[in-house]
Amino acid sequence: MTSPYNNKENITDKSSDVVWHNATVTSEQRAEQKKQKPVVLWFTGLSGSGKSTVANAVEAKLMALGKHSYLLDGDNVRHGLNKDLGFSDADRIENIRRIGEVAKLFVDSGSIVLTAFISPFISDRQQVRDLLEHDQFLEVFIDTPLEVCESRDPKGLYKKARSGEIKNFTGISSDYEAPLNPEIHVKTAEFSIEQCAEQIVDALIERKYFSF
Ligand code: ADX
Repeated sequence: MTSPYNNKENITDKSSDVVWHNATVTSEQRAEQKKQKPVVLWFTGLSGSGKSTVANAVEAKLMALGKHSYLLDGDNVRHGLNKDLGFSDADRIENIRRIGEVAKLFVDSGSIVLTAFISPFISDRQQVRDLLEHDQFLEVFIDTPLEVCESRDPKGLYKKARSGEIKNFTGISSDYEAPLNPEIHVKTAEFSIEQCAEQIVDALIERKYFSF
């Protein structure tokens, strides 16, 4: 493939003398081999909204259908690639920028990529969308009311955020900007995990990312 980075703005480009090396095997060939159109399913929503749970259920369904996928999950990626980042606005922006770049590489590999990050800012999600072709990014809004997320509180973090033990907690002391026009809108307070996962897989089939 030719470099997809031409004419794209690059904030701190310290490698402008590095020349893109064209691969022998193309991204089209990788996708064709997998019998699917690669795409990023960008899950966004509050902590405790169900992003990881639903994304895991979607991945299991894709596996059962013989599709090739990979899940990038906030809590896991923050143990490795992004373990140097915290939860200030600047760190969250960098977190999402790196994930966007990793997701783009997985798309190039022909995979269906699922990402489960709060990704609270509209502009950061837009920046990832801009990295990819128009049909390679689907925003999946895991739309669960704050009260429901807080009552679930699976990791006890809301309690700590309310008491002030955790600062900059999304929805409590840090902003969450909900998507204005997500391609897929999922309500985990109204449907089961299984139903939510089915809605997402159906949306992929409807949009012809694969057939079976
Ligand atoms: S993001 O805002 O930068 O996209 P990300 O999805 O990677 O966040 O990480 C969120 C996870 O980190 C939450 O599910 C929660 O378990 C944990 N976490 C720890 N501190 C915070 C905080 N201040 N705000 C939000 N999540 C936090």
